[in-house]
Amino acid sequence: MITVDDARAKLTAHDQQQVLRFFEQLDDAGKARLLADIEALDLDWLARVFAHTIDKVNPADIAPYEDVVRVGADDEADAIARGEEALRAGRVGVLLVAGGQGTRLGFDGPKGDFPVGAVSNRTLFELHCARLCALGQRYGVVPPLYLMTGPSNHEDTLAIFERGARYGMPEDRLMIFQQGTAPCVDERGKLLLDAPDHIACSPNGNGGLFAAMRDSGAFAHMRSCGVEHISYIQVDNALAQSADPRFVGYHLARESQFSCKAMPKADPMEKVGQFTNVRGRLAVVEYTEIPEDLARERRADGELRIGWGNPGIFMWSRRFAEAQADRADLPFHKAHKKIPHLDDAGTLVEPSTPCGYKLEAFAFDTLDQAERSLILACERDAEFAPVKNKDGVDSPASARALMTKLYRGWIEAAGGRVSGEGPIEIDARYALDAGELRSKLGESFETSGDLYLK
Ligand code: UD1
Repeated sequence: MITVDDARAKLTAHDQQQVLRFFEQLDDAGKARLLADIEALDLDWLARVFAHTIDKVNPADIAPYEDVVRVGADDEADAIARGEEALRAGRVGVLLVAGGQGTRLGFDGPKGDFPVGAVSNRTLFELHCARLCALGQRYGVVPPLYLMTGPSNHEDTLAIFERGARYGMPEDRLMIFQQGTAPCVDERGKLLLDAPDHIACSPNGNGGLFAAMRDSGAFAHMRSCGVEHISYIQVDNALAQSADPRFVGYHLARESQFSCKAMPKADPMEKVGQFTNVRGRLAVVEYTEIPEDLARERRADGELRIGWGNPGIFMWSRRFAEAQADRADLPFHKAHKKIPHLDDAGTLVEPSTPCGYKLEAFAFDTLDQAERSLILACERDAEFAPVKNKDGVDSPASARALMTKLYRGWIEAAGGRVSGEGPIEIDARYALDAGELRSKLGESFETSGDLYLK
């Protein structure tokens, strides 16, 4: 363990000595905790990322990204066949990122435990697991699920999966692991304490997944069970189609290392990242970082100039993802936030306005490392039902409405009739898509809504 003198010297060299200002008041256990935190700090890294983090992108550097691939009638069947073959061979694993703090939803617990099923009230975790079990029924192999949590929800998530009997996931097909953290700093880059013996820190962004997968043994697990491709989804997307055979197939056909689904933005200021060309390279620019004028700019035909949004649905080749874990130069972003911290008197301040920065890496920032990538247009309403806010846009209510709209469309495509406006939900294990539903429903099927097919 580092001595207090060495700790002081290490901090002073980076003008961070304020971290020790309550040291003398601590008991031995507190002193040991703080010294361990200081020992683990990489202050060169902190100085570098604070100086170079991205918080706004220069508009002159951004151009539209035009090379979005649309699912074509001539290659779709081939893509699906390729994807299905990979699923049958067990070559696809699913990574579900759920390490965020879900502050906007204001839900006291892991976001994945939020009930959203339009009729069943099933939670986000249950919906994602039901889909994987359904893929297992169809293809004979349940794609393994790698679930990334964060420090604030890891233990709760483990308990939820235990209580829920892993929501049907076989024991050897589920791995729950925790992402890392990054220290929080004030507006001048000074480390903040949230207790006399503890440096304030927060999850290091979903880009922390690469190192977390390496360190937790998730990549090793993938190698041992033959997973070569990773389907990435975000916990708050109630309609996320993990391991979608069509997407897997296009990814494989292009020998892509990093593939993304893209959707038209719902409005210029929608809170989604956007696919762009930054200084000639494909990149996602986050909604917090794109200058507003640029986000609102329209072409002569009235369409948004930067119009392709990021639903957060990716595929990586496992090798590509593994290589990202060993990079020391993953970019970090500064998120200006209200960070509870101790003032000089040692009182915990709960700020009402942003007072410092959380440092986060973004998974999509690895796009520019891919020699071969693919951006595939997707059908927005069928695949993107985000649950971010308590109400209004991107809320549980809007997600339930999108579910009902999708499943209603499936019933009608199968020749059935929906006469009412009530909610509709179809368990993935009953039907994974419209085609499967058609094979189960007779043409005279009729419902007035309030229907849960399972
Ligand atoms: C994210 C995307 C945005 C996209 C939108 C679609 C990023 C940086 N931004 O924005 O481009 O258009 O989703 O819904 O990805 N997470 C972690 N660990 C963390 C932080 C986040 O696992 O440290 C997970 C969250 O649990 C969630 C996902 O990453 O599943 C997205 O995080 P969130 O903070 O909700 O991102 P958005 O701001 O909505």
